[in-house]
Amino acid sequence: MLEQLKELAVEAEGKIKRVRTLSGLNNLRVEYLGKKGPIQEVMKNMKDLSPDERKAAGQISNDVKRTISEAITAKKEELELAEINKQLAEETIDVTLPSKKTILGGMHPLNAVIADIEDFFIGMGYTIAVGTEVEEDHYNFELLNLPQDHPARDMQDSFYIDDHHLLRTHTSPIQVRTLEAAKGQGPVKILCPGKTYRRDDDDATHSHQFMQIEGLHVDQSVTIADLKGILEALAKHLFGPEREIRLRPSFFPFTEPSVEVDVSCSECGGDGCSLCKQTGWLEILGAGMVHPNVLKMSGFNTPEFDEYYLEGPMYQGFAFGMGVERIAMLKYGIEDIRHFYTNDMRFLKQFK
Ligand code: FA5
Repeated sequence: MLEQLKELAVEAEGKIKRVRTLSGLNNLRVEYLGKKGPIQEVMKNMKDLSPDERKAAGQISNDVKRTISEAITAKKEELELAEINKQLAEETIDVTLPSKKTILGGMHPLNAVIADIEDFFIGMGYTIAVGTEVEEDHYNFELLNLPQDHPARDMQDSFYIDDHHLLRTHTSPIQVRTLEAAKGQGPVKILCPGKTYRRDDDDATHSHQFMQIEGLHVDQSVTIADLKGILEALAKHLFGPEREIRLRPSFFPFTEPSVEVDVSCSECGGDGCSLCKQTGWLEILGAGMVHPNVLKMSGFNTPEFDEYYLEGPMYQGFAFGMGVERIAMLKYGIEDIRHFYTNDMRFLKQFK
């Protein structure tokens, strides 16, 4: 019987050594160590043995089971490792293969101009403020000193949604919303980029949807000289250090005095050419000192109304608003505003 057990061990070890798969190994485990295996079969005859022989047989059967079990564990590790190595060899990635070429998009020229102007003003201590494209008549006109039926409303033909709401015609309502939120406490120093809408006929220089950037600086001692200084720096930043600006008297109901700002022509340097219609100047934006009525309606104390506001600091400030398309057209020499909105890849690719 002891011989039988030892032979079983040798036989099992031989088979374990030769097995090539994990499932085959599992079959051998069931075959030799399972309840119906040959070792159990041999052990059934233990009852015929003397107590001493039984003890020795019990020990040997345990040794044989342990030997077979250890051989199975070692083989299992060997087969698993071989499996992993095989998988690694099969799934190797060749990192030196050239990849598929991805076509990278570029920034839209209008976004590039906005980002550039934002950077310029953030560097001067301005923060970015945004508003909503659907605006209340109250903020788009009334608080900007344009009451109902004011003739200057004709300057901005509007898309109304109902009697009190419209698509904003300019970014100026962000001015009054920000002033109102500041509750009479300056300084307010904001730059407001955004989409705007007017019932204008589309042509080479007009679009029913366009973009504006508004600027507003209200504090206790801001003057028109500060406005001129910052716009001159902006013109040089956008169009080159040799550019000059000039202020022309103009009219906006929300600024007093109001000015149009021209930059010296980039094409002819001021001598006169077809781009600047022989004037030597190109108009880039509207601006002015914030009208006292606007400051007052937004809750700010202003010297013009000191008979009403007796306590606390007095405020004044400037505002300006520019058309982003117009700046981009001048900067890049684009002759038709519609190029910005027709998504022609041949046009857009030039700004990568
Ligand atoms: C205004 O909209 C004022 N809110 C600007 C302002 C702000 C003045 C703060 C003073 C103080 P205006 O209507 O001129 O002003 O428009 C400003 C710019 O928007 C124009 O110079 C032009 O570049 C652009 N613009 C106006 N209408 C159109 C249009 N239909 N298509 C493209 N750009 C336009």
